[in-house]
Amino acid sequence: MSFGGSDLLPGLQRDENWYKRGVFYEVLVGSYADSDGDGIGDFQGLISKLDYLQWLGIDVIWVPPFYESPLRDGGYDVADYREVLKDFGTLDDFRELVTQAHARNMRVLIDIVINHTSDQHEWFQQSRQDPDGPYGDYYVWSDTDEKYENYRIIFVDTEESNWTFDPERRQYFFHRFFSHQPDLNFENEAVQQEVFDIIRYWLDLGVDGIRLDAVPYLFESEEGNGESEPATHEFLRRLRAMVDEEYPGRVLLAEANQWPHEVVEYFGTDDDPECHMAFDFPTMPRIFYALRSQYKAELEEVLREQLEIPRDATWGVFLRNHDELTLEMVDEEYRQTMYGWYAYDPRMRANVGIRRRLAPLLENSLSEIKLANAILMSLKGSPILYYGDEIGMGDNIWLPDRDASRTPMQWSPDRNAGFSTADPGKLRHPVVQSLVYNYQHVNVEAQMAQPSSLLRWVRNIMQVRRQHPAFGLGDLHVRDTTHESVLAYLRDYAGEPEHPHSGDKPERILCAFSFAETPTQATISLPGNEGRRVFDIFGWQEFEPVSDEGTITLTFGSKQFYWLLLAEPDTVSTATSAIPIIRGLGGANDGDAA
Ligand code: BGC
Repeated sequence: MSFGGSDLLPGLQRDENWYKRGVFYEVLVGSYADSDGDGIGDFQGLISKLDYLQWLGIDVIWVPPFYESPLRDGGYDVADYREVLKDFGTLDDFRELVTQAHARNMRVLIDIVINHTSDQHEWFQQSRQDPDGPYGDYYVWSDTDEKYENYRIIFVDTEESNWTFDPERRQYFFHRFFSHQPDLNFENEAVQQEVFDIIRYWLDLGVDGIRLDAVPYLFESEEGNGESEPATHEFLRRLRAMVDEEYPGRVLLAEANQWPHEVVEYFGTDDDPECHMAFDFPTMPRIFYALRSQYKAELEEVLREQLEIPRDATWGVFLRNHDELTLEMVDEEYRQTMYGWYAYDPRMRANVGIRRRLAPLLENSLSEIKLANAILMSLKGSPILYYGDEIGMGDNIWLPDRDASRTPMQWSPDRNAGFSTADPGKLRHPVVQSLVYNYQHVNVEAQMAQPSSLLRWVRNIMQVRRQHPAFGLGDLHVRDTTHESVLAYLRDYAGEPEHPHSGDKPERILCAFSFAETPTQATISLPGNEGRRVFDIFGWQEFEPVSDEGTITLTFGSKQFYWLLLAEPDTVSTATSAIPIIRGLGGANDGDAA
């Protein structure tokens, strides 16, 4: 049995479920905090903010690529997998980041881009110069660009083909993404070995998890479409076996933007596992659809699907990240509707998606931002926040590509939002200065000083989530409601009889959300819960118990929600005895009044 790697990694508390119970936070090193005033964020800057992240309640920091790179794709174009980008610091700085994070009981998950490299990578340079040399077969070369013609193009904004002619080697090379990112040839065992060794290298440095970037595209075949090929799954099973054997407790997270029945394959099975985690791409756009349409139907449908996943596996749920809000997992009609609502200016679009941040997407409506986060924090899976969304940061759609939502973190109303002391003109990305999201009022310092701020609310809801194992470990069961705008599900946790030391008791929490603009009442069907006592877990107010018919009727204000504990009828704890947990912090579902 593994114990979350704690035997190997000093400072961390033992918890084999860390990746199921934790809240993740994606932080772009270059945009977070600049320690040396050169206008670019760095590891020392990030280290100086670990206390903030600990205060916020973050358990896992996800750090996207920080390797040597020409930065033509935000670092996802790696030129050297073992060197860190000089602008970000040194390998020792990275080591210190891991040590300091662990000392605060936070884990570190990094990205490894295994599908492709930058064309600046030494392997590619050698491969194009010397087809018969050791690297000649490291990439997917062809005399014709007419191979794999049924493969879709992912970056439709910039690419016309998945093949580009290399004038030096006088052959075409294959690329699923930008033409400066040649795909590695996974048929070549030497390439597979390199990938294993790179992953070992970073796990040896103490990282707790690896996000496997663009994982569906590793292998190509004539018969398939180059996505989720059987050989890709076979490779992942071997990779997982290596991690379990050599680094027990560390995890693999799959980035597979695929339909539910396909993405679930990336978990493998109990006996033959692949990744511990996979992003839940299908649920995310449906949350945004429900928010604007005021109808729960599409979201409810995807939540009802309840795909079986292995015991050790969990989803990574998210609202936003460093990429566009992808609309690949919705059909065309739905997509056009979402463009109409959320990307009415063509400048807001990128590829098949929308390049905006959470707050601007939701027109800065505090009640919608809270509702979206309350769903995120209660879904089945581990919530992954995107830096800056905890303070409702804005974006800059005048910047190219996905840089729109990669602007510097807004720490204070000072120069460069407290991100850097550099001359403002020197920053790699300018800070947001728009009317509504200007750093002079949207910043950490101001929100820390204001008890009713979004930042404090996000921290509060994460504290509440942490006290209830049902969120990280329980099942999710959608329940019928009498209103088309009201979504309800139970998070049900049976306890862990195998691990009595965990102290986690069985519990059942009803989560109910109203997408309606106007006040609403709905009756929720809760068969099997007749007579259970009902407590709001933010303020421990006791509600009417579940009726003898197994129903509960709730009244919602505009875009409000409830998290309600359904306790056994004979529970001794009373509202009064339970209050101290969060008294004085304000309710969670207090909408725009906050
Ligand atoms: C990353 C993107 C990147 C792409 C190609 C992705 O899946 O999330 O940011 O552009 O891989 O490397």
